[in-house]
Amino acid sequence: MTSNDGKLWDGRFEEPTEAAVEAFTASIHFDRALARYDLQVSRAHAAMLEEAGLIPAEDGAALQRGLDQVTREIEDGSFPLDPALEDIHMNIEARLHDLIGAPAGRLHTGRSRNDQVATDLRLYLRETATAAERGLLELRQVLLTRAREQIDTILPGYTHLQRAQPVRLAHHWLAFIEMFGRDGGRFADLRGRIGDCPLGAGALAGTTLPLDRFATARALGFDRPSANSMDAVSSRDAAMEFLSAAAIAMVHLSRLSEELVLWSSAEFGFIELADGYSTGSSLMPQKKNPDVPELVRGKTGRAIGNLVSLLTTMKGLPLTYNRDMQEDKEPLFDSAATLRGSLEVTAGAIATLRVDSERMAQAADDPMLLATDLAEALVRVGVPFREAHEAVGRVVGKCVRKGLDLRSLSREDLCAVHPDFPASAAELLSLTRAVEERNLVGGPARATVERALDAAQDEIRDRLQSLDAGGSPR
Ligand code: ARG
Repeated sequence: MTSNDGKLWDGRFEEPTEAAVEAFTASIHFDRALARYDLQVSRAHAAMLEEAGLIPAEDGAALQRGLDQVTREIEDGSFPLDPALEDIHMNIEARLHDLIGAPAGRLHTGRSRNDQVATDLRLYLRETATAAERGLLELRQVLLTRAREQIDTILPGYTHLQRAQPVRLAHHWLAFIEMFGRDGGRFADLRGRIGDCPLGAGALAGTTLPLDRFATARALGFDRPSANSMDAVSSRDAAMEFLSAAAIAMVHLSRLSEELVLWSSAEFGFIELADGYSTGSSLMPQKKNPDVPELVRGKTGRAIGNLVSLLTTMKGLPLTYNRDMQEDKEPLFDSAATLRGSLEVTAGAIATLRVDSERMAQAADDPMLLATDLAEALVRVGVPFREAHEAVGRVVGKCVRKGLDLRSLSREDLCAVHPDFPASAAELLSLTRAVEERNLVGGPARATVERALDAAQDEIRDRLQSLDAGGSPR
């Protein structure tokens, strides 16, 4: 047993808390990450209480002084964390009592830890979603720069991990630029949905005291007080949304990583990761391993797990606050850190990898990748596509059986299979044309890709500028 001395709720208790219970229920070892936001919230709350005449001006001033001191202690690491005081909210309040004495007892006027933690969490999410958005923009910028450098590098595009059709490497990078753009959009959307401030919702039903909820909402940079006190203290969908956006972004990073792993293998040989982004083997001296993309791929498991974890925690909870909800924080902090780290090392790996455009070109220089174009040559002279597909299928089958290069077939050879082939395979098939003629919007032709790169560049610049200017959600 431990003593209840110093606990802020010990009034109705006669027996002290069991030590095991204290250890089991404490959250201070992780929710101290919310200290900065908790202090912001307390400062705004105290100022409002003073303004509303709910606490004397001297006590208001003492509270601000005490909160300043706690802020300094948190920043320089000297703040004493006591697990007996459960969480960051009670640790800060208890420290205020040590620092300023009696006026500290007025801070929690009209407030509960329930509306307090919900508000802290929103401030945390606002900042963390903005950081995630910025990290995604920075990665997109790196991909874009590399794409421009490699504008004429051609490689096979794959379906089923089988060589399918030739594309520009820049087009391939642009696919990820698009994905990461939508990922950033999800974080921006989330910020647009956390404009309401839970503070003043109390434990669940507000308070009889005349708080000014609009003043605290404004002071903390929210748009308005939340409309329903029960929703305000019991909802965690903003956290779920963050975890979901993070999990999706990690899945995209994982797919990119998988390609970096494949492409850096001897079998592909398309890229070489820089030494600074590779590691060696403790046993095999020749090895250069792609541990960075492997770990990004691996850590995606946590991000998915964290989302499932919070969804599962929340699914059976009756309104309003339940202590289960304390379990929202570790998954959230973990996903935020995992995403931040993954974005940083992926951007670095992409920025520094060496592209072997020769190897890529060799892999793309397989006339079989142009078989669709042969079918389209028939379509151009009026043959229905299904019939053309069937004819080219037979041509390809013949080449495979006889070990012939598709390009070696004369017009007569082709016409033996279908009478409408307009020219020889060599005349009809060209790697360059195969790429350059795919110039519809969204295609891999040089002009199309350059337009897409320009559009992405403008968009990235605008988003970064708007984040720098205060990060308004779009
Ligand atoms: N540490 C708690 C949490 O994170 C703070 C709220 C506690 N509220 C309560 N009524 N026990 O959820």
